[in-house]
Amino acid sequence: MVCIPSGVTGVEERAVRQAAIQAGAKEAHLIEEPLAAALGAGLDISQPSGTMVVDIGGGTTEVAVISLAGIVYCNSVRIAGDRIDEAIIQYIKRKYNLLVGERTAEMVKISIGSAYPLTNEEEMSIEIKGRDLVGGIPKTLEISSKDIREAIVEPVNAIVDSVRIALEKTPPELAADIVDKGIVLSGGGALLKNLDLLIKEVTRLPVIVADNPLTAVVEGAGRVLDEMKLLKDIAAKF
Ligand SMILES: Nc1ncnc2c1ncn2[C@@H]1O[C@H](COP(=O)(O)OP(=O)(O)OP(=O)(O)O)[C@@H](O)[C@H]1O
Ligand SMILES: [Mg+2]
Repeated sequence: MVCIPSGVTGVEERAVRQAAIQAGAKEAHLIEEPLAAALGAGLDISQPSGTMVVDIGGGTTEVAVISLAGIVYCNSVRIAGDRIDEAIIQYIKRKYNLLVGERTAEMVKISIGSAYPLTNEEEMSIEIKGRDLVGGIPKTLEISSKDIREAIVEPVNAIVDSVRIALEKTPPELAADIVDKGIVLSGGGALLKNLDLLIKEVTRLPVIVADNPLTAVVEGAGRVLDEMKLLKDIAAKF
C-alpha cells in the first residue's frame, strides 16, 4: 500500500505502482494521503456523508473533503511546517539581528510556538543561541511565545485561508455534514499549539486534532490492508 498525494497524474500513479512491483511486491495498491489520514484518525470514510481533513506536513498543507471513500474536493498549498520555521528565522534576523539555523527555528516552534493567544500561564520564553549579525559572534537571546506568534502569522494565516477556500468550494450537502462533524487536523503541523482554536474561531466549526497526527497517514494505510472491504472501496476509485 503506497500513499500518494491527491492530484497526482495517471502517469505518476502508474510509475508508483510499477516501482512497487519492481521492488518485489506481488500486488500494489495506492491510496491518496488525505484518505489515509482520515482513516488513521479513526473516521469512517465509506459513508455518504462529508468529512474534511486538513493535513499539515512539512512541505504542504492538503485540505480534502471526503465522501464515499473518495475525494470530492482537494486543494494543496506549499505552505506548512517548513515555511513556519523559515518565518521564525526571518523574524529573529529582522528584529534581533540574530541568525539562527533551521533546527533551532523548528525547536522554538515546537516548544513555544502557537497560532492563537495562550493563557497567561502558558505564555513563556526560552533562550536561543545564534550568530549576531552585527558583531559576528555567537549570542544568546531570550525570545517569547508572543514574539513567535507574531513571527508566524503569515504562513499560519495562509493555512487557515486554504481551509476557508475549501469550505467555499464544498458542495452544500457535504458542507452541512462538516458543520455537524467538524474538521479533522492531521500531520505534524496539527500539533502547533492552538491552531485548532484559530481554525475554530475563523470557521465557527468544530475542529478536532487527530490523536496521532504524525502517524495518521501511515496508520490509515495499514488499516486499509487489514480491511478487505475498505480496500475494495478505495481500489474502485483507481
Ligand atoms: N509539536 C509540534 N508543533 C508544531 N509543529 C510540529 C510539531 N511536531 C512536528 N511538527 C512539524 O510537523 C512537520 C512534519 O509533519 P509530517 O511528518 O506530517 O510531515 P510530512 O508528512 O513529512 O510532510 P509532507 O506531508 O508535507 O510531505 C514539520 O514541519 C515539524 O516541524
Ligand atoms: Mg505528510
